[in-house]
Amino acid sequence: MTTGPIKLAPSILAADFARLGDQVAEAERAGADRIHVDVMDGHFVPNLSMGAEIVQSLRRVTRLPLETHLMIFNPDLFLDEFAQAGSDSFLVHWEGNTDVSRTVQRIKALGKSAGVAINPATSAAVLEEILPDLDQVLIMTVNPGFGHQHFLHTTLPKIARARELIDRTKPGCGLEVDGGIDATTAPLAVDAGADVLVAGSAVFNDRESVAAAMQRLRAALEH
Ligand code: DX5
Ligand code: ZN
Repeated sequence: MTTGPIKLAPSILAADFARLGDQVAEAERAGADRIHVDVMDGHFVPNLSMGAEIVQSLRRVTRLPLETHLMIFNPDLFLDEFAQAGSDSFLVHWEGNTDVSRTVQRIKALGKSAGVAINPATSAAVLEEILPDLDQVLIMTVNPGFGHQHFLHTTLPKIARARELIDRTKPGCGLEVDGGIDATTAPLAVDAGADVLVAGSAVFNDRESVAAAMQRLRAALEH
C-alpha cells in the first residue's frame, strides 16, 4: 500500500541547460521533493549526459536532495566523485553489475542513500535479496537512455509486485518510477504502488512554467 504524500523528483535531463539554476530553483519553490540527475556514459545506455560538475554546481543553488541516477557501467568508480560533489543518494542499475550488493555497500559506506533500478525487461524478483539493504527501488517505465519516451504500460504489474515485496520485506523503502511520467500515466503508476515520480519532460517543457507543470501533475493524482 502506498502511504503518505507522493513525492515528485523533476529530472533535469529535460531542463534548459542555459537556465539550469533558475529552473531547479523554480522546481524547489514549486514543492519538488528532490532533483533527479541522469548520468549516462554512452555504453550502458546509447546516450551521453552529464557528470559530477553538474551536481557540484546544483549543490550551490538548491537545498533539495540531489538524487543521482547512474546509467553507467562500473558505477563504483564514480561514487566518491559524485558524493564529494554533493549527491545525497544514488540509484544504480541491477543490470550490467556483477555485484550490485558491493556497490550498495559502498554507497552506504559513503553515508548516502542507496537505491537499485531495474529496466523494463528485468523482473522485480531480482530485488528480493537486496531489498533489506535499500532505501529506494526504481522501476524504469521506459528503456533508459532518453527523455520524452512513452510510458511502457507492461511495467504496471511489476510496480505492483515491487510494492508487495516492499510491504512484506522493507516497509519504508521508496518505490520510484522513471520514464514517460505525465498527468495521464502518473495516476496509473501511483495506483500500482509507486510513491516517488521522476518526471523530466512533463516538468521542464516549452508549454508551461515549471510550477504550472508540477501543479498539473499533482492535480492529476487527486481524483
Ligand atoms: C531516462 C531517464 C529519465 C528521464 C525521464 O533514461 O532515466 O530520468 O529523464 O524523462 P521523461 O520524464 O521525459 O520520460
Ligand atoms: Zn532517471
